[in-house]
Amino acid sequence: MTFDTAPRRRCAVVGLGARARLYTQALAGPYADRVDLVGFCDVNAHRMDVHNDWIASVHPDRVPVPTYGAEDFDEMLRRERVDLVVVCTVDRTHDDYIVRALEAGCDVVTEKPMTTDAERARRILDARRRTGRSVRVAFNYRYNPVHSAVRELLAGGEIGEVGSVHFEWLLDLRHGADYFRRWHRDKADSGGLLVHKSTHHFDLVNWWLDATPHTVFAQGGLFFYGDEAGRRRGLARDYIRAHGSPAADDDPYALRLADEPILKSLYLDAESEDGYHRDQNVFAPGVTIEDDMAVLVRYDSGATLTYHLTAYAPWEGYRIAFNGSEGRLELLVEETTWSRPGTRTALHGAETDEDAGRTELLLRRFWERPREIKVATGEGGHGGGDVRMLDDLFGDAGADPLGRAADATAGARSLVTGLAANESLASGRAVRAADVLSVGL
Ligand SMILES: NC(=O)c1ccc[n+]([C@@H]2O[C@H](COP(=O)([O-])OP(=O)(O)OC[C@H]3O[C@@H](n4cnc5c(N)ncnc54)[C@H](O)[C@@H]3O)[C@@H](O)[C@H]2O)c1
Repeated sequence: MTFDTAPRRRCAVVGLGARARLYTQALAGPYADRVDLVGFCDVNAHRMDVHNDWIASVHPDRVPVPTYGAEDFDEMLRRERVDLVVVCTVDRTHDDYIVRALEAGCDVVTEKPMTTDAERARRILDARRRTGRSVRVAFNYRYNPVHSAVRELLAGGEIGEVGSVHFEWLLDLRHGADYFRRWHRDKADSGGLLVHKSTHHFDLVNWWLDATPHTVFAQGGLFFYGDEAGRRRGLARDYIRAHGSPAADDDPYALRLADEPILKSLYLDAESEDGYHRDQNVFAPGVTIEDDMAVLVRYDSGATLTYHLTAYAPWEGYRIAFNGSEGRLELLVEETTWSRPGTRTALHGAETDEDAGRTELLLRRFWERPREIKVATGEGGHGGGDVRMLDDLFGDAGADPLGRAADATAGARSLVTGLAANESLASGRAVRAADVLSVGL
């Protein structure tokens, strides 16, 4: 007979918004035999209650998770004897919770981006060093089976030494617009999309190539969203937030919170507490982030990356090509093929089966016919990456031959490209990664 000797973790979640649902449902459900969910912490009490209601609807006998206001975070760690903290707050606040949790002796799982600027990243790396505790960054895209296959093919030398990568990522009008409706639209909150979103993509490249960014040059700006572009193209309507605004009625970019039970309970019903408006006009003033960015990176391996992120595309997905000394590897992933007007975020995927996109991974070795590599894609968010990541974080992790588990160093290494790109956008010059964040990456 064998016994499971892994100690049970006592886990708290801070930031009970949309993303936290992945964790609260998993921890109260499939991982409840390994992890005790012992605390919720948020500035908004209503949202914590909504998470407890969701849990109760599936597990009616479960005692509600104790809830704490943000000012009682340290008290929660003590009173509930927490040893693992999951951070799902607004990006700007990640560092504060990560550092306080580490100093209280906890391990941390943080949502991406690890943080939003170099100073905050240094604080996290220092605290991790000082405390010896662990920080895991939730890079779910590493766990997407097709991305793991790319890693295996490259590490296995199928195209030889990689000389360059060409990487284009498109956000469709539903998902892309969503970053301009709420806190992400302020660079101080999110670091801009080169940090908030591209951290996933830069992490993938670092991991695929096993390389560290050296020099970064970027160009781009706010092309489509924001008040100036909206007015110029006649797309702007005269309202600040959609709910209760007749001017939003015929706006295909307006988010209708009252029509979506999850969005209504999580945001509309909660806003009297903190004034968080989830449905702002994407063409209203106040946008300080970019929506169209081109980035050129040179890595310490000598490889180069040309990268483009567009947040206003008709379809969502990405194309990547790796040029190697023995061939080329090409990946096309269509996550959605089009956007329906007036719909929510793209995280809900295609509207019908006919709309579902396709995934194509092609290996083109020199002097050989192209070979399509078939990869079974996964169910669930982010191409099946979410469920696999949860298993690695909270389940029986087992061996990790592909090195998918990302620590704080990987979190910082992925950030540095976006931070340097932001500096390059501001200065118009190429930026050395080490001048932005020199922490022995
Ligand atoms: N890995 C992924 O694919 C993925 C997907 C979506 C979101 N995320 C990340 O998850 C995080 C949350 O995103 P979201 O979409 O759930 O946002 P959200 O706005 O729905 O939720 C954020 C929550 O943080 C709370 N909060 C804000 N300031 C706080 C503070 N100072 N202290 C405590 N709580 C505070 C808010 O009240 C809210 O409940 C972000 O870091 C985001 O980048 C990751």
